[in-house]
Amino acid sequence: MPSHDTLKNINIFSECSGRELKAISRLITQVRKRAGSDLTVEGQPGREFLIIVEGQATVRRKGKVIARLGPGDFFGELAVVAGVPRTATVTADTDMVLEALDRREFASLLDESPTLAKKILVGAVKRLHELEESLTG
Ligand code: CMP
Repeated sequence: MPSHDTLKNINIFSECSGRELKAISRLITQVRKRAGSDLTVEGQPGREFLIIVEGQATVRRKGKVIARLGPGDFFGELAVVAGVPRTATVTADTDMVLEALDRREFASLLDESPTLAKKILVGAVKRLHELEESLTG
């Protein structure tokens, strides 16, 4: 189980209270991925929400790079929130350390922390807006 200090250093958790951090640390599971692994695959179902602790990843849609993600960034929220297919492929550029939550754990995370729920909601809407812009040109 990650310590409060480890979580506090991850940007999206920085405004969470001690109580929230305690609940979050019980929900998340640390996973390691090798450089070159696909962490999500566009069009496939997705069961995990992921937060980057260490390493870098690239987000591609239809083969085109749309974003790069690093420590403190999260991804995978769109498929997990709504049960829609993955909107993009996220590939590890380096070896990575991630915190992962499945759908049930992610739902509990949103219940435990309204602060975090708002950050994830804002991030998701921005990404959907960017996706729409990229479709309409
Ligand atoms: P999901 O669709 O579950 O899986 C692919 C993930 O890529 C998606 O959730 C978002 O977390 C992420 N993603 C999609 N579009 C963008 C974007 N424009 N910028 C950053 N990340 C994105």
